[in-house]
Amino acid sequence: MSKKPIKQKADPETTGHEWDGIREWDNPMPRWWLWTFYATIIWGIGYTIAYPAWPLVTSATQGLIGQNNRIAVAEDIRRFEDANAPVEAKLVAADLTEVSSDPELVNYTQNAGGAIFRTWCAQCHGSGAAGAKGYPNLLDNDWLWGGTMEDIHLTISHGIRNTEDPDARYSEMPRFGADELLEPEQIDQVVQYVLQLSGQEHDAGLAGEGAVVYADNCSACHAEDGTGDRFQGAPNLTDAIWLYGGDAASLTETVSNARFGVMPGWTGRLSEADIRAVSAWVHSRGGGE
Ligand code: HEC
Ligand code: HEC
Repeated sequence: MSKKPIKQKADPETTGHEWDGIREWDNPMPRWWLWTFYATIIWGIGYTIAYPAWPLVTSATQGLIGQNNRIAVAEDIRRFEDANAPVEAKLVAADLTEVSSDPELVNYTQNAGGAIFRTWCAQCHGSGAAGAKGYPNLLDNDWLWGGTMEDIHLTISHGIRNTEDPDARYSEMPRFGADELLEPEQIDQVVQYVLQLSGQEHDAGLAGEGAVVYADNCSACHAEDGTGDRFQGAPNLTDAIWLYGGDAASLTETVSNARFGVMPGWTGRLSEADIRAVSAWVHSRGGGE
């Protein structure tokens, strides 16, 4: 209250607009503001002359100082590719089993393979490769199709149940319920038997019947003892590692409707050096055989 009131001309100009008794003054813009504004216009004109800016019919003005970020990026990429070319050539020529014993290749595949994994594989297998329901964990030593460098390289090159590539890994579990290959009670029995196989709580009576159903219908792929078959990508049913879930409800769903996990192949999409780098990276995660 003690402050002086803001000085005003006796009768300031207004624009003539008025809303509910509020009038709009028509004061000039402050000088400093106006000059800054003119300066930005001059700067803007100079900038669009110096740098690529104005669209033309089929191209755009190139700018007087010859700056072109696209060309600069392409040059950077070429520089890195040239620098990596010798080690990539060595990787492609190397025997797959020797990659993990050559320090230069290990160093390269750890860096390049990790980057490739984060770009192309993480959306399905998780950023740390720990997988999710339907997408296998690549960190453990439980393998559907095999965990040697050759196995992993083949899986990644051609994919799994990838109909675009005749060399892809392929197998199909029958739909025992949907196609009425088994009666519902037989499915309940075999599910109890799988619970028993994997050391979980189960109904011993049903599991006893289930053992017969299993021997007749499942052992050809999952093996008589339930440890699975890598030639067919049939999972081990005796461990606690489940791709689709090991509780009675998930097992019933698997047996009734089957599963059909598809992994794309990477030949053609990634170079052989990239496929080898990411194979070596996966192989080195802990479960490599
Ligand atoms: C679109 C999803 C998808 C993408 C992308 C993908 N995968 Fe897979 N991957 C799968 C599925 C699903 C399986 C399991 C298939 C099955 O049930 O047999 C699998 C299986 C695998 C296996 C076999 C695991 C085993 O136990 O034998 C390896 C190795 C693998 N993926 C590596 C990779 C790598 C490396 C990449 C990136 C270049 C990649 N995957 C990209 C879906 C994907
Ligand atoms: C023709 C071969 C074949 C036969 C026969 C077969 N399976 Fe399978 N089974 C597979 C394959 C292959 C998979 C993996 C599917 C995938 O990864 O998408 C699988 C997956 C499973 C799974 C999922 C395991 C997990 O980790 O989630 C269970 C459970 C299973 N089978 C149980 C059975 C039972 C029980 C029978 C007999 C009633 C049976 N299978 C018969 C090939 C077979």
